[in-house]
Amino acid sequence: MAKTKTIFVCSSCGYESPKWLGKCPGCNEWNSFYEEKLTSHTDVGGKNGEKKKVAPKLLKEVEGKDALRTHTGIGELDRVLGGGLVKGSLVLVGGEPGIGKSTLILQLCDKMQGEGKVLYISGEESAEQIKLRADRLNIHNDDILFLGETDISLIEDAILEIKPKLVIVDSIQTMYSDEISSAAGTVSQVREITSRIMRVCKGNEITTIIIGHVTKEGNIAGPRVLEHMVDTVLYLEGERYFSYRILRSVKNRFGSTNEVGMFEMQSEGMVEITNPSSVLISEREDNPSGSIIVATMEGTRPLLIELQALTTPSVFGLPRRTANGIDYNRLTLLVAVLEKRAGLALGSQDIYLNVVSGIKIRRASSRLRNGFSMWF
Ligand SMILES: Nc1ncnc2c1ncn2[C@@H]1O[C@H](COP(=O)(O)OP(=O)(O)OP(=O)(O)O)[C@@H](O)[C@H]1O
Ligand SMILES: [Mg+2]
Repeated sequence: MAKTKTIFVCSSCGYESPKWLGKCPGCNEWNSFYEEKLTSHTDVGGKNGEKKKVAPKLLKEVEGKDALRTHTGIGELDRVLGGGLVKGSLVLVGGEPGIGKSTLILQLCDKMQGEGKVLYISGEESAEQIKLRADRLNIHNDDILFLGETDISLIEDAILEIKPKLVIVDSIQTMYSDEISSAAGTVSQVREITSRIMRVCKGNEITTIIIGHVTKEGNIAGPRVLEHMVDTVLYLEGERYFSYRILRSVKNRFGSTNEVGMFEMQSEGMVEITNPSSVLISEREDNPSGSIIVATMEGTRPLLIELQALTTPSVFGLPRRTANGIDYNRLTLLVAVLEKRAGLALGSQDIYLNVVSGIKIRRASSRLRNGFSMWF
């Protein structure tokens, strides 16, 4: 018997409440609650009313997944995935609009040549647009099938009929389910679509890659709603006007989350950078003033980056502090240390700090501190 219950969900963070609220207690967003109908099935009986039986398996008899890892052929991607794509796994690739998600994943589809059919489902671009990109990227895999659809029930049917080895969903925010009244891209839709894709693909050992847009707060359609459902979460980041991109692993059930992959966006696609330091400091002149090479860690890989600093007398009462590619609070901390310990009077100076090449040093951990201690 199905029971229907009404709840209110925050479209920004997924906070649930039995009544409508003006301000979300979870993320402090105003006017973000919308009504959602939940249907719970309490009937656990089989066809004739008898109870379903479940049978646990001996763990030692379960086939190990590690043997079923496929190398993607893109070294930097393999590094982040922990050695390759695990068969039947669900990977979420997030990133800001236009950062290169579709490009990277299409290149991955090409590398899957000989591994079986690849189903590329796009709710954003037409077949012609994808073909245009495929031609630019020199894609040769003849087993890529394109499906321009956004209705999840039709997508499920197509997956079950084609039984591909790899499914790409580009992007999760464009897909919708009829059974949920809210618009495509809302937390409940995204959650429902992901769980339905997961059910179909995991049941048939199909590897799935879901592409998701990151909101301005840096979350994929409401924070954390997808991250716990999927096996691996990768974020593609970089500065829009620089060509370098970093692929970061935020969660990985089959590998370390300490690895990052580096790419350069070129006209023929994402080209992996195996020695990032050589590229990042290649354009530096000999000993320019206000510039220094700093050693930092990105994942398990040491990285040499160029850091530029500039100070000018401030014309305002409150001097400006501008940090690009590095945590603002870390800049203010450095200024405080320089004032207190080195005796530099920076109180009347505007200070600008810039990491060259658009790389963002986000994880300002003890490792980064080591980098800075070299700098002092
Ligand atoms: N001919 C080209 N040469 C170099 N870079 C290009 C070329 N054509 C497109 N690009 C780059 O590719 C980017 C778009 O890549 P892609 O469509 O893979 O990104 P995306 O993250 O999937 O974007 P969206 O959010 O629109 O889906 C553009 O921002 C542009 O910088
Ligand atoms: Mg795209």
